[in-house]
Amino acid sequence: MRLVILGSGRGSNAAAILEAEKAGRLGRARVVAVFSDQPAAGILALGERFAVNSAFVDPAPFKTKLEGAGEARFIAAVSAAQPDLVVLAGFMRVLKPGFLQAFSGKIINLHPSLLPSFPGLDGIGQAFRRGVKITGCTVHSVTLEVDGGPILDQAVVRIETGDTLEMLVEKMHTAEHALLPAVIRRLSER
Ligand code: GAR
Repeated sequence: MRLVILGSGRGSNAAAILEAEKAGRLGRARVVAVFSDQPAAGILALGERFAVNSAFVDPAPFKTKLEGAGEARFIAAVSAAQPDLVVLAGFMRVLKPGFLQAFSGKIINLHPSLLPSFPGLDGIGQAFRRGVKITGCTVHSVTLEVDGGPILDQAVVRIETGDTLEMLVEKMHTAEHALLPAVIRRLSER
């Protein structure tokens, strides 16, 4: 199963996927490319570290969504990698019908809350400020409804009394780094 990873940030989840592949814990999946909409994103450094194709793809003209010329560039780059699965690992742009149709049924997203609670931006901060005691992370199929596609799996993270936001972020990343490779592995073995 050929994986393409898209991300906008430091890329700790992409690194967890690549580590899992290296350790033989990713089933029949292998990462063939990593693309980012941010030229300075940490995720792009993983290309060299894991000897995998990685590149910035210009998302212009929009700031928060992928549409128009930027969408066309992403469709071209991702298509060229011939993915069986496109993994959004911290990709902070809303996908539109053009991209969704190009990779129909093949896109999954990681979100840092127990969906359907706290969709959208800053799922960790939203849960922390709301004062819930249980949050977690979700991997779901991507549809036009932002963070609304069918849920594939979730992991629970408890917020203990005295936890700071920074502590919660750390716990969330630990949970995500286990959940996302496990879901990919299962999908690859179907
Ligand atoms: C992760 O916590 C992921 O759940 C979140 O971005 C972070 C990326 O971290 N994604 C979203 O909020 C998507 N709406 P990383 O770059 O270290 O993998």
